[in-house]
Amino acid sequence: MSKLKHLIKTSLKTIEVPSGSNLRKILLEHNIPLYNGKTQAFNCGGNGACGTCAVQVQTIDGHSKTQIMKRTLGEEVRLKLPPHLNKNEDIRLACQCTVEEDIEVQKFDGVCGHKLDKKVW
Ligand code: FES
Repeated sequence: MSKLKHLIKTSLKTIEVPSGSNLRKILLEHNIPLYNGKTQAFNCGGNGACGTCAVQVQTIDGHSKTQIMKRTLGEEVRLKLPPHLNKNEDIRLACQCTVEEDIEVQKFDGVCGHKLDKKVW
């Protein structure tokens, strides 16, 4: 029996993953640099607390909000705190994000990936 799969498109590579995969885990497994600078070593390890794993998640064409993948309550709370301040509804914490549709992911600059005017990948 085949399991439903989804695409994760980034400017570095496109990956096919099983539905329900954790986005942080997948990005790290595929050597996509999720963390900026020293946060590669200093992050909360995927507990949704530090905010450093933030990425922009949109539909595969990169033009619209995802329809299925919703923020968790903890993610919602953390993304309202500095430096994120909920500036963009498409910003997600990769560690809290379950892949349930085809998506395009972008990483921005800043300790927490919060500098939305400067794309890293
Ligand atoms: S790794 Fe800390 S919030 Fe995601």
